[in-house]
Amino acid sequence: MHLMALPYPIVQAPLAGGPSTPELAAAVSDAGGLGFLAAGYRSAEDLRADIKKVRAHTRAPFGVNLFVPTSDPVDQAAVDLYAAKLRGEAERSGVDLGVPRDDDDGWQAKLAVVAEERIAVVSFTFGLPSRAVIEGVRDSGAYVMVTVTTPGEAAAAHQAGADALVAQGIEAGGHRGGFTDDSGDYGLLVLLRLVLRSTPLPVVAAGGIADGEGIAAVLAAGAVAAQLGTAFLRCPEAGTSAAHREALSSYDRTAVTRAFTGRRARGLVNRFLEEYDDDAPSAYPQVHQLTAPLRAAARKSGDAGTINLWAGQGHRLSEEVPAGELVRRLGTEAREALTRATRRPFGH
Ligand SMILES: Cc1cc2nc3c(=O)[nH]c(=O)nc-3n(C[C@H](O)[C@H](O)[C@H](O)COP(=O)(O)O)c2cc1C
Repeated sequence: MHLMALPYPIVQAPLAGGPSTPELAAAVSDAGGLGFLAAGYRSAEDLRADIKKVRAHTRAPFGVNLFVPTSDPVDQAAVDLYAAKLRGEAERSGVDLGVPRDDDDGWQAKLAVVAEERIAVVSFTFGLPSRAVIEGVRDSGAYVMVTVTTPGEAAAAHQAGADALVAQGIEAGGHRGGFTDDSGDYGLLVLLRLVLRSTPLPVVAAGGIADGEGIAAVLAAGAVAAQLGTAFLRCPEAGTSAAHREALSSYDRTAVTRAFTGRRARGLVNRFLEEYDDDAPSAYPQVHQLTAPLRAAARKSGDAGTINLWAGQGHRLSEEVPAGELVRRLGTEAREALTRATRRPFGH
């Protein structure tokens, strides 16, 4: 499929770690946007079951997003030091810290699932898959998108054979999707323009967009569609925890931090982020594994101060609306905003 064929130029961002559900993806696709299943942190078999559930709800195309295994070097001594700092947290929560281990998030098994299930759109984040992987996925019938955060990553993804790019600005909620932990901190608008000048590929714009006017802005700047994550977190179909939902409408500031996972991600500024941001090393997925029991316990007890409350800078624009209704509303608002913009006097 091509993204220009979507009834609405709206992509629901893959939302790993709980918010992604088959119901959310199905509702978005059914309404004319592009729903996504986040494969991250799921087993290959759970992913396959999720795909079947989406198909039971809708015949519309949808996407699956995969984490590319990371190859950043990890300083084990720094991970051990961070674990020592977190020991008091674990004692207070009555849990043991997780044990860091090698983990490629089931890369090969999930590649096999997306090929066998013939998924319409497959997007990658956290890295650049090899040309062979990209071609293999495309041969199964998928449209292949790669997440980029710099013009350099965009050029490399074009070279490797991607069909389209997801340009993620620094405003975005959740993990930075670049090829390395320290890649780009470009704002979305400038990233979009630089990428569109330097590669011929269609570009989906992501980061801080949460209403129709924001979608209109990136379309005017040349994007083929807008990818919204935080805007969908409060939909009833999403699996977002109750504490996270509440925080989205009551917390103010967001920041980019490694405190929760060892890889830069934007979240609402809470107690844990403030206390550990300075100490956290660049070590993904080791830090993610260390803190997982702490975060699970906090989600259970509703302790928003200890959960990773991923959110983009536009989180206060998000509303509690069913996903299909949200897609239709955003689409209408975007069209109206584009029409309004063309009515403004220009030149003579
Ligand atoms: C809770 C949450 C989980 C996310 N999980 C993923 C993911 O699994 N894969 C991915 O490519 N991006 C993920 N992202 C990032 C989104 O793809 C997207 O870049 C971001 O949501 C855009 O910014 P916004 O949240 O301000 O709309 C996630 C974002 C959030 C908020």
